[in-house]
Amino acid sequence: MELKVERDSDIESWMEVTLVYNSALKQISTKLEILNDEFQHVHRYNPIEHIKSRIKTSESIVKKLRRHGYESTIQNMVLYVNDIAGIRVICSFTSDIYRIADMIANQSDIKVIAVKDYITNPKPSGYKSYHMLVTVPVYLSDRIIDAKVEIQIRTVAMDFWASLEHKIHYKFEGNAPEHIKNELISCAQMVAELDAKMLRLNEEVRNISQQKND
Ligand code: GTP
Ligand code: MG
Repeated sequence: MELKVERDSDIESWMEVTLVYNSALKQISTKLEILNDEFQHVHRYNPIEHIKSRIKTSESIVKKLRRHGYESTIQNMVLYVNDIAGIRVICSFTSDIYRIADMIANQSDIKVIAVKDYITNPKPSGYKSYHMLVTVPVYLSDRIIDAKVEIQIRTVAMDFWASLEHKIHYKFEGNAPEHIKNELISCAQMVAELDAKMLRLNEEVRNISQQKND
């Protein structure tokens, strides 16, 4: 599978695409690290466990364009593939997810294009995560490009579930046996209970240590 080279400049454009989206990822990562550091400074705790980022491979970009019936051109990629740059933020608690999302959305150079709250409305598979599609300005030598970044925010437990479900999904090419799908849905419910319990426990502990300090 190869990118269709429409013009001589397309190869160069592909390199530019990677450059721009990599820069966008760096900027969002830095913003998240700053928020995490500041949170540590003010509230004495880190809402972010870790951050993973990736640029979609040209093969998966081409596959996605084809799936949606578009030709593989640089223009179509930039226009129709929203997750060329993807960043995953893993938090300890559900409450941290909304805190991080709000802090990102409130930054004046970030534009929020779309939000999908699969925590309030989980997918039929049981998938839970908070998705934001944002743009961030990338300053090149002669112009500014608003680059799209897909941010997925979820708890450690949700991430554990999603990575197993993803492996199973691929193993069965999307057609896992019914009982396995049902087991996954039941695991997702357990994940939600675990997240709720851990949050309550953490709040109780914070209250106790606050009383001690008063
Ligand atoms: P894609 O074409 O997959 O990008 O879907 P979309 O454009 O409709 O966006 P959606 O918000 O549904 O999904 C975006 C991304 O979320 C996916 O690429 C996955 O990384 C993740 N995701 C969505 N649904 C599931 C799911 O059921 N299981 C797992 N493991 N991941 C999911
Ligand atoms: Mg995707």
